[in-house]
Amino acid sequence: MITKSKIEDSMLDLNSKFPFVLPELPYEKNALEPYISSNTLHFHHEKHHSTYINNMNSLIVEHKLEDLILKEIINKSRSDKVLQGVFNNAAQSWNHAFYWHCLKKDSKKPYDNFMTQIAKDFGNYENLKSELIKCGLNQFGSGWVWLVWNCKELKLSILKTANADLPEIDKFIPLLTIDVWEHAYYLDYQNNRKNYLETFIDFIGNWEFAQHNFMLCTH
Ligand SMILES: [Fe+2]
Repeated sequence: MITKSKIEDSMLDLNSKFPFVLPELPYEKNALEPYISSNTLHFHHEKHHSTYINNMNSLIVEHKLEDLILKEIINKSRSDKVLQGVFNNAAQSWNHAFYWHCLKKDSKKPYDNFMTQIAKDFGNYENLKSELIKCGLNQFGSGWVWLVWNCKELKLSILKTANADLPEIDKFIPLLTIDVWEHAYYLDYQNNRKNYLETFIDFIGNWEFAQHNFMLCTH
């Protein structure tokens, strides 16, 4: 059972401010083996994610954004070419903090109201899985696949975003994400993104976390 406080302890709160600190992984580095190696998690968390956090902090100082909360920094920098570096590093910092929670071995599959909503919006769970995999394969280059709650249409949607981008914060609530940058899977799957996506969906996707997020945004 995932509790809200446990998630918040290791998430980057969108309401928090500079200076930002690298969130800890919510599990040991070998917790996802054999599907994701501790070596991948080491590089992904301590090198890639850490660099995004450090760059974000430096750029916030450079552009005098210390008074803004993370959500404001992301929204302000999203379409501003001068702040492109701020957006890339702030978005990647948040995306990764969220992604760590989207990984869990032997997660319980969706049930109750969440499964009912999946059936309503995708037909069934198998279709949802196929759509997520297809979306990940169709993302040219680096990016992210998202299962989101569409706040306007009150339905589940699947989105893909390129590079550091994330779904618009006020329109979509992320329930689950898959990092499809090569650094997320290359050491374990080389260039076989399809194998990584299929493994994620069947063995390490944290559907309990997605279910928890779904319950929060629909109650
Ligand atoms: Fe990544």
